[in-house]
Amino acid sequence: MTVNYDLLGKQLDSLMSSEPDLLANSANFVGLLFAEIPDINWLGLYIVRDNDLVLGPYNGLPACVRIPVGQGVCGSAVNDAHTLRVANVDEFSGHISCDPASKSEIVVPLIIDGVVLAVLDIDSPIYDRFSGEDQEGIEQLCRIFVARLSALGATYNNFI
Ligand code: SME
Repeated sequence: MTVNYDLLGKQLDSLMSSEPDLLANSANFVGLLFAEIPDINWLGLYIVRDNDLVLGPYNGLPACVRIPVGQGVCGSAVNDAHTLRVANVDEFSGHISCDPASKSEIVVPLIIDGVVLAVLDIDSPIYDRFSGEDQEGIEQLCRIFVARLSALGATYNNFI
């Protein structure tokens, strides 16, 4: 099943258009994407706090609370400051398993003014779940989310 990312982007933008609270918008960003992207078992934010990524709003089973920057798929995406798309998590050296059901994963850094504030992490129980088209679509959603956050004044120091 394919996702209409353009439509989802419009829904996201509309959802965030009238609310200034960063936490509420982050919670709805996660809730909307989890509801609309099929074949996933976990979707959420990890927030960069000093040298760690700390668990933020998410949908799915309870997950690892703290991931050191540089470790796991999430911590590597922060260091690289670009998206990591992993077709088989068992083949990613240092992958951190929070749910044994997860087989593939995509992590997109959320960057404002050149600083990674957080990452969006999505897990799937299906190997190779995320195509190049999914990556482009999910990155587009993240750009919309980041543009709204930035307009609301989000920075590394005040982001949820
Ligand atoms: N797999 C991630 C850890 C977070 S969970 O998937 C929710 C990683 O390797 O960074």
